[in-house]
Amino acid sequence: MTYNYGDAGREWLRALPEIIAECGRRWSLTFTGEGSAPSWNYVVPGVTSEGEPVVLKVGYPAHEVQHEIDALAHYDGRGVVRLLEADPGIGALLLERLLPGTPLSSISDEDGVTVIVASLMRELWRPAPAGHTFPSVEDWARGLMKLRQKFDGGTGPLPADLVERAEGLFSELLPSQADRVVLHGDLHHENILGAQRAPWLAVDPKGVVGEPCYETGALLRNPWGKVLSWPDLPRVQARRIGIFSELLGLDRERIRGWAVAQAVLSAWWCVEEDDSGWKNVVTCAEALVGADL
Ligand SMILES: Nc1ncnc2c1ncn2[C@@H]1O[C@H](COP(=O)(O)OP(=O)(O)OP(=O)(O)O)[C@@H](O)[C@H]1O
Ligand SMILES: [Mg+2]
Repeated sequence: MTYNYGDAGREWLRALPEIIAECGRRWSLTFTGEGSAPSWNYVVPGVTSEGEPVVLKVGYPAHEVQHEIDALAHYDGRGVVRLLEADPGIGALLLERLLPGTPLSSISDEDGVTVIVASLMRELWRPAPAGHTFPSVEDWARGLMKLRQKFDGGTGPLPADLVERAEGLFSELLPSQADRVVLHGDLHHENILGAQRAPWLAVDPKGVVGEPCYETGALLRNPWGKVLSWPDLPRVQARRIGIFSELLGLDRERIRGWAVAQAVLSAWWCVEEDDSGWKNVVTCAEALVGADL
């Protein structure tokens, strides 16, 4: 947060308790638990004056908050958490609280996880409304160009062959996309929670427009951290790709291609934020490259 937004980010962090108190007054909330540590977003549970369990999510009021609000409005509770109130000016979202809220990472059967994620994807994918302001997957991919700018044409800590592969994949896949939809953009184990309206619902949509196949990439670089210790990761990746292909009617090589390209983009985001998490995504990308489809 402070890395990305500098002095403005630090100032926002200082103002955070007052922003939360203001949301509490405005939306008549009683906070019922501890909030998360304010890294990117602050998430705190509460109840409304009618006793409805809610979550207040507050993030630095940048474009991303507006895209999340727009994506939640677009999905209108279908496959995702419901948005009850929002104020993009202060970066605040009031959401229905998902109960029990157990993340999908609690399931150890990765085949089962992949089936659940594929069925959520089917519910989410609809064309973007006219006049929308969501970024496109091309906009996201352009971010990777900053890697070579930062390292004078090199790739810094990231393996050069992998970065080259990702650049080639983006230039092949971006212009040949199928009909575009509003993608969640970060559909992985920690952003899918056990709920009551449906067994599983997604939270934290980024809202990005691209072909459906793009969406499969996020799962294939997760669960964050845990993949590093999984035995035979290439085999797991091949199985996950096989399930997506069969249930969603998508081409296996195209799933792999997007997943590798996005893993490298995601590794660059880690490098940009000075976060060693890039090792996690590079491991996933290398296992994807080595997977026997
Ligand atoms: N509506 C909700 N109901 C229950 N739990 C929630 C809800 N929204 C978020 N959470 C919990 O808070 C966590 C973080 O929320 P979210 O994914 O929206 O933010 P984030 O941007 O990923 O934040 P961070 O970067 O701090 O993880 C979720 O993984 C989930 O455990
Ligand atoms: Mg999240």
